[in-house]
Amino acid sequence: MVQARLSRLQHALTERAARQLLRQPVTLDSYNGRLITVSGREYLNFSGNDYLGLAQAPEVRQAFADGAIAYGAGSSGSPLVTGQHKVHQQLTDTLCDWLGTERALLFSSGFAANQAMLLTLAAKEDALLLDKLSHASLIDAALCSKAAFKRFAHNNLNDLNQLLNHHNVAGSQPMVVTEGVFSMDGDSPDLAAMLSLCQKYSAPLLLDDAHGLGVLGPQGQGSAASQGVAASELFCLMANFGKALGAGGAFIAASNTVIDYLEQFGRHYIYSTALSPALCAGVLKSIQLCRQQDWRRDKLQHNISLFRKLSADLPLLVSASAIQGLVLGSSARAIAASAQLKQAGIWLSAIRPPTVPAQSARLRITLSSQHTDDDISMLVQQLRRAI
Ligand SMILES: Cc1ncc(COP(=O)(O)O)c(C=O)c1O
Repeated sequence: MVQARLSRLQHALTERAARQLLRQPVTLDSYNGRLITVSGREYLNFSGNDYLGLAQAPEVRQAFADGAIAYGAGSSGSPLVTGQHKVHQQLTDTLCDWLGTERALLFSSGFAANQAMLLTLAAKEDALLLDKLSHASLIDAALCSKAAFKRFAHNNLNDLNQLLNHHNVAGSQPMVVTEGVFSMDGDSPDLAAMLSLCQKYSAPLLLDDAHGLGVLGPQGQGSAASQGVAASELFCLMANFGKALGAGGAFIAASNTVIDYLEQFGRHYIYSTALSPALCAGVLKSIQLCRQQDWRRDKLQHNISLFRKLSADLPLLVSASAIQGLVLGSSARAIAASAQLKQAGIWLSAIRPPTVPAQSARLRITLSSQHTDDDISMLVQQLRRAI
């Protein structure tokens, strides 16, 4: 019996390998944001999500270390038992002050926060309407939820309108879920227009801003703020601390009622060890720098513009964000290009299905404020050779 089960697992692994879809973790010898060392060799890193270079900022590292001395390494419990320290409260207060929301709740990861958001807030009589390219954490949550689940064409408001209309007539209560910056394509929905559409049908709008927070809007308030939409107009906002803020963990920010409800019924929140207080101290410093240091966002914008200008002849996806996609089609082609770039000292992972749709394997280039003009020129030169 056990042998049969193991054979089934082995078969799936072998089949995945045959389709060139096997993934392997890479162990870094060292990381300084712009540069990584793997197996003794140094590479220019164009695969991280540390868009503002805050993961390595000395002040953030120091705050993390001081936090461990002051509060201990771990929280020692789930938040509703003994896991909530003063620094957790400071962090949620800071998030509310930064983003203009009534309350915020912390989670161990963006994956867990998205699960909690959809599984807890959507009921049987609801219909979850998700963008076709939504992150796996949102799709899995919608699949597990008791609500009906439908997807609309990527960033397509006409398609969304039709779905909303259909559910309006059918009597179910739609909830719309989208992302501020899509993780694999780097593009964004028209959030102001989407919000008006949602308001027309009295449908709540839920936003995952994992790749927009810190990078976009005044003081890095994120995608909604950058498009003139106040966070308080969203039903809830999820974002994580592991991308532009350079740490780990996540939060949901919303009205008192939504957060009170998640606090009482959100199983991913209630039955999970609270974030490490040391990490919260690091995130607090990271938010402070993010809000104050516009130069980080300005430098990132400069790098994005330079990259787009130098690579105007390359078949890039349309994106004005730090995420730039170069679709190559087959997994074999993406792997070959990635290997050639590595030879040239550039670390750029091939992204393959099921992370992206079939036949759209790609190089996912991520830019950071830490890259220099020379780094970007070299990247574009080598991309041209590799594809
Ligand atoms: C759009 C989006 N949402 C959620 C997540 C999950 O966040 P975390 O890495 O904190 O679990 C990610 C990260 O991969 C993401 O890209």
